[in-house]
Amino acid sequence: MGTSHKLRGHVLVYSGNPFATSWQETVTILENSAVLIEDGRIAAVGDAAMAMEAPETDYSGHLICPGFVDAHVHYPQTAIIASWGKRLIDWLNTYTFPEEMRFGDADYAACIADRYLDLALDHGTTSLASYATIHPESVDALFNAAAARNMAVVAGKTCMDRNAPEGLRDSAQSAYDDSKALLERWDGQGRARYAITPRFSPTSSPEQLAALGALWGEYPQALMQTHISEQLDEIAWVRSLYPDARDYLDTYEQHGLLGERGIYGHAIHLEPREIDRLAEVGAGLVHCPTSNTFIGSGLFDLMGLAQAGQHVGLATDTGGGSSFSMLRTMAAAYEVAQLRGTALHPSQMLWLATAGSAQVLHRADELGSLATGLAADITVLDLASTPAIAQRVAGAKDMWDTVFPTLMMGDDRAIAAVWVGGTCQRGASCG
Ligand code: GUN
Ligand code: ZN
Repeated sequence: MGTSHKLRGHVLVYSGNPFATSWQETVTILENSAVLIEDGRIAAVGDAAMAMEAPETDYSGHLICPGFVDAHVHYPQTAIIASWGKRLIDWLNTYTFPEEMRFGDADYAACIADRYLDLALDHGTTSLASYATIHPESVDALFNAAAARNMAVVAGKTCMDRNAPEGLRDSAQSAYDDSKALLERWDGQGRARYAITPRFSPTSSPEQLAALGALWGEYPQALMQTHISEQLDEIAWVRSLYPDARDYLDTYEQHGLLGERGIYGHAIHLEPREIDRLAEVGAGLVHCPTSNTFIGSGLFDLMGLAQAGQHVGLATDTGGGSSFSMLRTMAAAYEVAQLRGTALHPSQMLWLATAGSAQVLHRADELGSLATGLAADITVLDLASTPAIAQRVAGAKDMWDTVFPTLMMGDDRAIAAVWVGGTCQRGASCG
C-alpha cells in the first residue's frame, strides 16, 4: 500500500482549452471539494476524492490549482533581474553576458540554481523550462538542484558561437558535442528533459544552427527552445545576418530547427508566413508579458494566436522579465491583452499558466492539470492573502470574481502551499 493524502478546498479542473472553446465549457471550480494524492500522483478529484478516507490537509476557502509551469526562463539571470534602462541587445551586452560568464564556476552555478528553484517554489512554480549558459556545468547544476526537489524541469546548454564576448562562445562542433553529451546524460533521467538550445539566430552561425538541427534530427524526442521576433532591431539584425532567409523563422527552418517539439519564446512581431508555418507544424509559442513590457519589446497577440489554434504557454522570462511570480505574469498578460482590446478571463489566465505551458513543453500527460494519474504538482492559493485583496473579495459576486483579484494583485504571499510529486514543499502542512 502506498501513502495517501487528501487536500480539501476549492479545486480548479479543466476539461479542455478555454481559448479553443468557451471557458464556461472547459474550466470549472469545484467548490468545497478535494484532491486525493497517492504515491506522488493524483488518484482522485472531486466527489471521488471526497469519498475516500485518507489523512488530510484543510485548505478550505483556498483554491487548489495545478502547480504553475513557467515555460521560458533563464535561471542564470536570477541575480540580474530588474536591471535598469536597456533594450534587448544592450541589455544582453550590459547585464546578461557578464553575469552568464560567471557560470563556468560550478559552485556559483549550483548556488544560483538552488536560489532560483527556491524562489520558483516560493512563487508557486513547480515546473519550468530554462536556458542555462554555454557552460555544461550550468546545465548539470540546474538538473541536480531540480532532482533534489523532485521538480520536472526542462533545460539545455545555451549555444552561441558569435556576437557574444570571448569566454561566452562555443563553436558549431563543441555546441553539438556538449549538447549531445548533456542530452544523453539528462533527457528522461527522473523528471529531467533536455531541450537543444540555440540562444537565437544572431548569436549562432549558420554552421552552428545546422549542427544543432542535425542533433535534433538524431534525437527527435528532444525538445528545442529558442527565441524569435522579440524586438524590431533584433529582427532587422537577423535579416542582415541571414540575407537568404525568407524571415526570422526561416533562419531556424533552413537549419532543421522548426518542429512540433520546438518552443519559440516571445514571437511578438511575426509575419503571416511565420504564423502559418508555426501553426502547420504545431510548434509552441511562449508569451513573456513582463519581459515584453520591461525590455520594451511589444504586445504579443495572445488572443489572436491562441484562438487560431496555436499552442501558447506563459512565462516569466526571468531575468528579462521583472518578476519570478506567475501570478504577476498572469496580471501582465491581462494588461497586455487589454492594450490589444480584449479581456482575458481568469480561467484563461490560470489555464495558460498551467495546462497551456505544460502542453507547449509536451508534458501535459504528466503535469499542468489536476487529473487522475498526473503528478501531484499542486499550488494552493490563498484568495485573501493581503488586506487589499481581502476587502475586494468581501464584495465578490461569484467564484471567478473571488479569484481574479489574486491573479491581478497576488504575489508570493498568496502561495498557501506547494506540493511537488506528492510531497509538501511549502506551506503549513510541511511542518
Ligand atoms: N534573446 C536572446 N537572448 C535573450 C535573453 O536572454 N532574454 C531575452 N528576453 N531575449 C533574448
Ligand atoms: Zn529568453
